[in-house]
Amino acid sequence: MSNRSIIRYVIVVLLVTITGGIILYKNLPDVGKYPSTGDGSVYWDPPSWYQMPETTEGKMILYGRELVINTARFLGPKGSVAAISNGMNCQNCHPEAGTRLNANCFALVASTYPKFRERSGRLESVEFRVNECFERSLNGKRLDSQSREMRAFVAYLNWLGKDVVKGQKLKGMSIPELPLMDRAASVSNGASLYQSKCVQCHGLQGAGLPTPDGTGYIYPPLWGPNSYNVSAGLYRLTRTAGFIKYNMPYTPVQQAPQLTDEEAWDLAAFINSQPRPEKFFEGDWPMIASKPFDHPFGPFADTFPAVQHKYGPFKMIKAAKKK
Ligand code: HEC
Ligand code: HEC
Repeated sequence: MSNRSIIRYVIVVLLVTITGGIILYKNLPDVGKYPSTGDGSVYWDPPSWYQMPETTEGKMILYGRELVINTARFLGPKGSVAAISNGMNCQNCHPEAGTRLNANCFALVASTYPKFRERSGRLESVEFRVNECFERSLNGKRLDSQSREMRAFVAYLNWLGKDVVKGQKLKGMSIPELPLMDRAASVSNGASLYQSKCVQCHGLQGAGLPTPDGTGYIYPPLWGPNSYNVSAGLYRLTRTAGFIKYNMPYTPVQQAPQLTDEEAWDLAAFINSQPRPEKFFEGDWPMIASKPFDHPFGPFADTFPAVQHKYGPFKMIKAAKKK
């Protein structure tokens, strides 16, 4: 072979290799950010908002994030956009703009909605789910689904969950379930724990600490007229106890739990024994048998009293439900 034909040969081999490589790379199955098996062994790694491009879409996502953090400033009783909620912020129960683990984070919203939920007995869109928290957790009114604010919430939630593929399970999602106690949760024990561990921020009357200009709260209320209503998720003892155990007393950077399980259960019982807005929704739990064992309002599919559905002991209710 002459020198020239060797060079020609090498060039052809190189071209074929490069083209082949590109075709192969483009067609490789998308490995994604998390294991596709989704066995729930990996923690969520939220995308970083501070690298957001300055596009129209980017600005909506950042507005959505702002609405989660400072809901009251825009939509509270003195809100600059509308007065449709109680002064709490979404972030009060979805800390760090919905990115904190074991704290009701928003990682799975984009990949799991629209989703069928037993409480409404229907397929819920993201907009519907956001409005559920507005009407219950923020004891307020629904946002129009075409409003700029709702579009911003949805843009933020979809962006947050963009790396999670449908069906993927991750660690630290939702509010953790604490082991059930053999006894009922104790309101009186919770009351004394409250005095030593919670009162300095949430106040003697559980009314929280309002901001000086009265637009919202530095420390959110735990009961009373400006707290979540009795149809909110946090009114269920398992949800309150799990949230408190992993997130309270509040620290800006999440720490290992500071409360025992029993303390968390008793504190939850005390908080939910206090007065709060009584708002009920016709059409909730259309299938009575699908009510969670800690949903405290009848009619029930079993014969356990309402007070036991509220405070426990839950093990026997759960066992009866299984049968
Ligand atoms: C008082 C506490 C509280 C406040 C405030 C609150 N939420 Fe929620 N939110 C909850 C609870 C509890 C759940 C359900 C968690 C569960 O069932 O494990 C939930 C669930 C959600 C979900 C569904 C998450 C999922 O993965 O299915 C979305 C979306 C949501 N909230 C959005 C919001 C938005 C937006 C706001 C502010 C407008 C808000 N929430 C304010 C307590 C709250
Ligand atoms: C150092 C101040 C501080 C202490 C102490 C504290 N919290 Fe909180 N708590 C907060 C803050 C701040 C939030 C809202 C978190 C956010 O917006 O990121 C919060 C949120 C909550 C929420 C959900 C929102 C709501 O208003 O319903 C509950 C429930 C709660 N705390 C219960 C407790 C309990 C029970 C204790 C005692 C074990 C406690 N907290 C101690 C500061 C505190």
